[in-house]
Amino acid sequence: MVDRLLVNGDTVVGVDDLSSGKLSNLPEELDLRHLDIRDSRLKDVFDEVRPDVVFHLAAQISVSNSARNPKLDADVNIGGALNLLECMKTQDSNGASLVYVTSGGTAYGQPEVLPADENTPIRPLSPYGASKFTVETYLPIYENLSRLTYSVIRLGNVYGPRQDPHGEAGVVAIFSRAMLAGTSLKIFGDGTDERDYVYVDDVVEAILRAGARGHRGPFNIGSGLGTSTNRIFELLAEYCSHEHPPEYGESRPGDIKAIALDSKKAKIELGWEPIVSLEDGLRATVEWFKAHPI
Ligand SMILES: NC(=O)c1ccc[n+]([C@@H]2O[C@H](COP(=O)([O-])OP(=O)(O)OC[C@H]3O[C@@H](n4cnc5c(N)ncnc54)[C@H](O)[C@@H]3O)[C@@H](O)[C@H]2O)c1
Repeated sequence: MVDRLLVNGDTVVGVDDLSSGKLSNLPEELDLRHLDIRDSRLKDVFDEVRPDVVFHLAAQISVSNSARNPKLDADVNIGGALNLLECMKTQDSNGASLVYVTSGGTAYGQPEVLPADENTPIRPLSPYGASKFTVETYLPIYENLSRLTYSVIRLGNVYGPRQDPHGEAGVVAIFSRAMLAGTSLKIFGDGTDERDYVYVDDVVEAILRAGARGHRGPFNIGSGLGTSTNRIFELLAEYCSHEHPPEYGESRPGDIKAIALDSKKAKIELGWEPIVSLEDGLRATVEWFKAHPI
């Protein structure tokens, strides 16, 4: 996001507490404020910067962490978003626009019809899915209370260069790094679980389009296809020349069996479609991890 905004010539100010993000992933020219989004000093940043567009991506991002500590998850994902919305509400400007980035992969739980469109009932199976969705319900309220406008982007499983390979989420990054390091890998469940993988550059394009056009959404952003963990393993093993078969373990609480997102609405209203194929995206990700052994 930051790279693209800077290339476009925008003035960009980032807010991050670096709890999971890394400075090394960010360009040096970024004006970064090292701050928790729950902190009352966020207001000072808004008063100083008076942003035209706010892209809200800061979050507790782990489904497993949310199952272990739902209160912390809600604190950051709901409480942090409310702090931000309060800053936007009182911001002395002509009304900024907000792009709220949330999860399509967890909001719908296990839908009966796949790919799931935006009218699919919201039935999250994890605290993370619940907290991320909850914020959507506040947005029309804040729109009424203040002059902010908003767009909602519901993402599939994002992957690509610079994703954290040390966390519990982000299977492509975790597998790529482990395979390149020659270590063995564990798949939770039997590997037939399906997710909708979407490349980071395509996601950035969708978020920027939402910010520029002021369409509310919500917009599902995904490929429309479910890909199994076994297939991801197979493709990455080929690109990493990895020859060891995976181990299989217990499924994780809160994980769903299959999800794929229907993004037709984004195509119609934002003119957005994914352009990077899974194979090309995975190859690019492996190349990046080869060049950045961490
Ligand atoms: N990666 C995916 O597959 C995916 C899928 C659906 C939705 N999303 C959403 O996209 C957004 C970005 O996620 P990502 O995958 O790029 O993860 P990420 O870890 O790269 O980004 C999240 C950032 O939020 C920061 N952060 C966490 N808690 C914070 C706090 N209290 N105050 C300030 N900063 C804080 C982290 O340090 C990190 O830099 C999140 O809102 C996430 O819910 C991601």
